[in-house]
Amino acid sequence: MPPPITGPEILKIRHLDLRLAEKQGGAEAGIAACPGTQPCGKQCGTSVAPTERPQMLLSRYFLPVLKETPADAEIVSHRLMLRAGMIKQASAGIYSWLPLGYRVLRRIEQIVHEEQQRAGHIPMLMPTLQSAELWKESGRYDAYGPEMLRVRDRHDRDMLYGPTNEELITDIFRSNVASYRALPLTLYHIQWKFRDEVRPRFGVMRGREFLMKDGYNFDLTKDAALHAYNRHLVTYLRTYERMGLQAIPMRADSGPIGGDNTHEFLVLADTGESEVFYDSAVTDIRLGERDIDYDDMNQCRSVMEEFTSLYARTDETHDEAVFAQVPEERRRSARGIEVGQIFYFGTKYSDAMGATVQGPDGKPTPVHMGSHGIGVSRLLGAIIEASHDDKGIIWPEGVTPFHVGIVNLKQGDASTDSACEGIYRQLGAEGLTALYDDRNERAGAKFATMDLIGLPWRITVGPRGLANGRVELTSRRGGESEELAPEEAIARLRDIYAVHR
Ligand SMILES: Nc1ncnc2c1ncn2[C@@H]1O[C@H](COP(=O)(O)OP(=O)(O)OP(=O)(O)O)[C@@H](O)[C@H]1O
Ligand SMILES: [Mg+2]
Repeated sequence: MPPPITGPEILKIRHLDLRLAEKQGGAEAGIAACPGTQPCGKQCGTSVAPTERPQMLLSRYFLPVLKETPADAEIVSHRLMLRAGMIKQASAGIYSWLPLGYRVLRRIEQIVHEEQQRAGHIPMLMPTLQSAELWKESGRYDAYGPEMLRVRDRHDRDMLYGPTNEELITDIFRSNVASYRALPLTLYHIQWKFRDEVRPRFGVMRGREFLMKDGYNFDLTKDAALHAYNRHLVTYLRTYERMGLQAIPMRADSGPIGGDNTHEFLVLADTGESEVFYDSAVTDIRLGERDIDYDDMNQCRSVMEEFTSLYARTDETHDEAVFAQVPEERRRSARGIEVGQIFYFGTKYSDAMGATVQGPDGKPTPVHMGSHGIGVSRLLGAIIEASHDDKGIIWPEGVTPFHVGIVNLKQGDASTDSACEGIYRQLGAEGLTALYDDRNERAGAKFATMDLIGLPWRITVGPRGLANGRVELTSRRGGESEELAPEEAIARLRDIYAVHR
């Protein structure tokens, strides 16, 4: 749940009020000056929190939508992200995040943060550039191969752009933690990674630079580390469900990270790069709203067992003989998008790098570790693959860049303008974010833009409806519209979003 609107958030709304007031004739409109600590005017952003404006006038926004379908984009999510002005390629597999894409990226990050911290995992931030020394110590500097981007600084020191962070975190741990009393400990960050993929493709799905949440648990015993593993599995299920996604944990192969206890989370999609095999009954299980005590080992284990007992494997671990035991009508093979992976790898890094703590018996004991990743930037592509139609994106409420779009059917008409501005302001006061299409455009063009960018709800305001005190509330997903009084439409949205904060 985002925090209630207080302090700086309120300032931002007042700044927008001010902006609308400027349009309406500034001081004459009777809107008080910005109550921030700095003078307002052009520097207005400086006195508010450095977050994004909750509300936006489309005439003032930067939304470079494309009319044409980009020819070189092979899959629908990539095409729609380009068309909706969310990203722009900077070079192969490296993207700039334009304002709309950036809003969704931040929203996804926020959900990841909330679910990690709900389980007691501690956020931090490690750098993108790392010294090669630590990687030589763990033995992965040579093992990682050409996917690792290696650079040399002016003093001829070997550096690398981190593809992952086990070494760095293990070094932080061993330098600072001496006793088992500091355990259990789980630290995580959300940071850019670089992997020089042979074939960067599908937009942000397989980038070279991409945003990943990676978390690391440190535990005294294998049992405690397996609890951390199960706990992560539960946090991931909740994270994806909040984003409107079903991501199925599947038994996987650990690759260069090492260890044999690992699950990947896959979103089923024809465009997925992984081949998967599963019992169709796994698609019926949901975590839902159940209350989880993350410190309760048995509870976390039983959720893990519930979600991983049925057959669900990627091609690397697929076993025809075991699969044959699944009732034939439930056997499925399909494609999937990997949106996360969890690992328990025991003492692999702690042994190699001397990460020990003094145990209860006073003896140095290597810690049991695991690492857990979510493909934050890839998730945008995965969500769009799972939720779109021929008109554009359909954002699930949990991740939408704005809660609602407002379309003014007769821009410049005093009554529709003022009704739209009133709704826009009221939505802001309710803590709902709105993108108000106040451009002087045809209705058809405004609808097409809203459909393309995929806001789940739209309020349409026109002179005919207004004559009866009505506006239209339309669902992007179902397409159905309802005529409501403006306050009713706002109240409806408040209820819808009450569960998605
Ligand atoms: N090149 C990439 N572009 C975008 N996201 C990525 C990329 N590589 C990995 N990810 C995301 O980061 C998560 C954690 O990284 P992990 O080390 O498990 O990746 P991986 O198994 O090598 O991924 P893949 O098999 O897709 O190459 C992955 O589950 C995936 O969602
Ligand atoms: Mg993986």
